[in-house]
Amino acid sequence: MSRLRLEGKVALITGGASGIGEEAVRLFVVHGAFVVIADIQDELGHQVVASINSNKVSYQHCDVRDENQVEQTVKYTLEKYGSLDILYSNAGILGPVTGILELDLNGFDNTIDVNIRGMAAAIKHAARAMVEKNIRGSIICTASVAASLAGVGTLAYTTSKHGLIGLVRSACSELGVYGIRVNCVSPSAVATPLSCKSFNLQPSEFEAIFGAMANLKGVTLKGKDIAEAALFLASDESRYISGQNLVVDGGDTVANGRQLPVFQDS
Ligand SMILES: NC(=O)c1ccc[n+]([C@@H]2O[C@H](COP(=O)([O-])OP(=O)(O)OC[C@H]3O[C@@H](n4cnc5c(N)ncnc54)[C@H](O)[C@@H]3O)[C@@H](O)[C@H]2O)c1
Repeated sequence: MSRLRLEGKVALITGGASGIGEEAVRLFVVHGAFVVIADIQDELGHQVVASINSNKVSYQHCDVRDENQVEQTVKYTLEKYGSLDILYSNAGILGPVTGILELDLNGFDNTIDVNIRGMAAAIKHAARAMVEKNIRGSIICTASVAASLAGVGTLAYTTSKHGLIGLVRSACSELGVYGIRVNCVSPSAVATPLSCKSFNLQPSEFEAIFGAMANLKGVTLKGKDIAEAALFLASDESRYISGQNLVVDGGDTVANGRQLPVFQDS
């Protein structure tokens, strides 16, 4: 276990019922945090709570598209654990798998609603609580390599994740005066229900295909690796880091996959 500690801190994790968010819930609890899971998959959320079996974690139904539900969830967190030190705004969807020529605008709107509007609502209400209680909190959002590159996600998804970078930077610039940090983590391909379902692949098939395309060999990217990056950004060890996009992609977004002939095996 890393020495990063969240002892006594209270974290709200949206999209914590499955995938990357679930890994973060488990990791944050192991590192000492109290955690509220906010999600729309109630059965899964309750299963995660039951499997951790600790009064340090609880579940709250919250559709991040509904500002009122987000506000109520922040209120619940404050009432249940007395503070809100960390927001990990992670809930996201892939959106319609169509390009610009066949764009389904309702699906596009829904993707923006979850991936940007939902993140904005979560930051708004978590930051209000932090400001009101004079908490020098940490806010982390899950973006994606699709926040920096086109062609690795659907059009709606790529648009939303690019927009999220602007949201994170704006919130960082506004909230610094209160001592609140705002960052994001950007995974490449992780086998989760979201990614496997959309490609209709089993986790092992997904990892084999994306592993073959990855820049960094010999390691398989897991949800826990993203949770570890979020843990660092949540902890006091990152106390002067704000406004950043911590890309967890083994170098995919900076290496173009081609090498000068001089570096290639003859
Ligand atoms: N898996 C990947 O390869 C990958 C890569 C880059 C970024 N991401 C991002 O990581 C985040 C987590 O995705 P994941 O891969 O773990 O997928 P996932 O589907 O396993 O988890 C997403 C969670 O968000 C919840 N959610 C969806 N809509 C919601 C809403 N309206 N309100 C509240 N909760 C909602 C889901 O119920 C689910 O529990 C997303 O923001 C996604 O865009 C994933």
